[in-house]
Amino acid sequence: MKTLVIGSGGREHTLVWKLNQSPKVDKIFAAPGNAGTAQLAKNIDIDDKNVEGLVEFAQKENIDLTFVGPEAPLVAGIVDRFNEEGLKVFGPNKEAAKLEGSKVFSKNLMAKYDIPTAKYDTFTDPEKAITYIKEVGVPIVVKAEGLAAGKGVIIAETEAEAIEAVETIMLDKKFGQAGERVVIEEYLDGEEATVLAFTDGEKIIPMVPSQDHKQAYDNDEGPNTGGMGAYAPAPVVTDEVLQQVYDDILVPTIDALQKEGIKFKGVLYTGLMITADETKVLEYNVRFGDPEAQPVLSLLKTDLVDIAEAVITGDLASVEVKWSDKKSVCVVMASGGYPIDYETGKEIAGIKEVEADDITVFQAGTENKDNKLVTAGGRVLGVTALGDGYQGTINKAYQGIEKIEFEDAHYRTDIGHKALNHK
Ligand code: AMP
Ligand code: GLY
Repeated sequence: MKTLVIGSGGREHTLVWKLNQSPKVDKIFAAPGNAGTAQLAKNIDIDDKNVEGLVEFAQKENIDLTFVGPEAPLVAGIVDRFNEEGLKVFGPNKEAAKLEGSKVFSKNLMAKYDIPTAKYDTFTDPEKAITYIKEVGVPIVVKAEGLAAGKGVIIAETEAEAIEAVETIMLDKKFGQAGERVVIEEYLDGEEATVLAFTDGEKIIPMVPSQDHKQAYDNDEGPNTGGMGAYAPAPVVTDEVLQQVYDDILVPTIDALQKEGIKFKGVLYTGLMITADETKVLEYNVRFGDPEAQPVLSLLKTDLVDIAEAVITGDLASVEVKWSDKKSVCVVMASGGYPIDYETGKEIAGIKEVEADDITVFQAGTENKDNKLVTAGGRVLGVTALGDGYQGTINKAYQGIEKIEFEDAHYRTDIGHKALNHK
C-alpha cells in the first residue's frame, strides 16, 4: 500500500520509520518531511497546513492511508476533508480536535463530566481575576487562554507574582489577543507523565506510559520547550495509576465526547499530573507527542498499519497491541539558544557512526543542502536507545550523543533521571 505522513518533525520521522517496518507498506511519502524521512520516504514539498494541497496530492497518488502528525492540520479539519473525498486517514476530525485546539472547550468538558483536573476559573476582567487570586491563595497558576508558544503559563509562588502575571497578560497584553482571557488554575504538586491511547471512539487501548522533559535545561530549569527528551515506560505510572487513568480519565473522556455527539478516532494524548492522592489532567492533545512518539513507537511490536486501519473502521477491539518489555530513551539534540533564539544551517556529523540495532537517530529540524546534512530548526535530532535497564539505556543514548557534532549543539544531560528515582 501507499502511505503518506504529514509533518516534518522527529515524531514524523518516527512514524515513517515505523511504517517502513510494515510488510503491507510499499511506498511512503512525507509532506513536507525532513532529511530523516527522506532516507525512507519520498518528501513532497507541501506544507502540513496546506489542507487542500494535501487532499489533491493524496487523490492524485491514490494514497491508501495517511497519518497526520501535528495538531494544526487536525484542528483545521484535514480529517473531515480527507473523509469527504473518501480518502483513508488516521486522526481525529475537527470537532474532536477541539480537545487540543481550545483550552476552554477541554476544561469545560472535564468540569461537566467530572474528569479530574485542576480547579479553575476564567476571567476577562483583571479586577475579578485578582479578587479570585486573593480568595484562593497561592501557589496558583495563571494561563493566557489562547496560544502563547508555551510561554503563557505562569506558576506564581506569591500573591504579588500572581497579580503581576494577570497584569502582564491582561493589561500589558504581552501575548496579544491570547491574553484577553486568563485561566486561573489550582497549582498541582506532583510528577508529570504522558499516557497516549489508541481509540476508535469506543475501544481504548493505552500505550506504554512515557515522560517528557519540557524545560530547556537540566533539573527542569529554564524556558518551556516542545520537549527535550522522553522515555518509556515511565515508572511513575504504576499499574495502579494506569488503571486509574483508564477508569477515571480515558473512558470518561471518550464517553463525554460521545455524549456531546463527537466520535474521537486516533491517538488521545493525556498530559497528567500524578499527585499523592490522585492523577489529574493537565492537558489533552489529539496526536502522538513529540518527542514521546520516539520511545513509545520504538517499543511498539504490532504493525502500526493494522492498528490504524482498525481505528478507522471502528474495529480496534479486534486488535491485540503488543509492546516490547525493553526501555527506550530519547535525548533531543537542539540548536544552541532554542527555544528562544538560534541559528540554523550548521553541518551535522556523526549520525552514521551512531546508528545500530538498538540506537536510532530520529531527525527533526534537518535538511540536505548542497549534499550536506544541516540543521534547519530548534530541535534537531532525537537519539533514541533501546535497552534492558534504565541506567544502561540512558548511557547508551548519551554515548550516541557524544559521537554526533554540530556547532552550538545543546542537550539536557539528565533525560530519564526520574526513572532512576523510582527504583
Ligand atoms: P500547559 O501548556 O497548560 O500544558 O502548561 C505547561 C506546563 O506548566 C505543564 O507542562 C506543567 O509543567 C505546568 N503546569 C500547567 N498547569 C499546571 C498546574 N495546574 N499545576 C502545576 N503545574 C502546571
Ligand atoms: N511533548 C509534548 C507534546 O507533544 O505536546
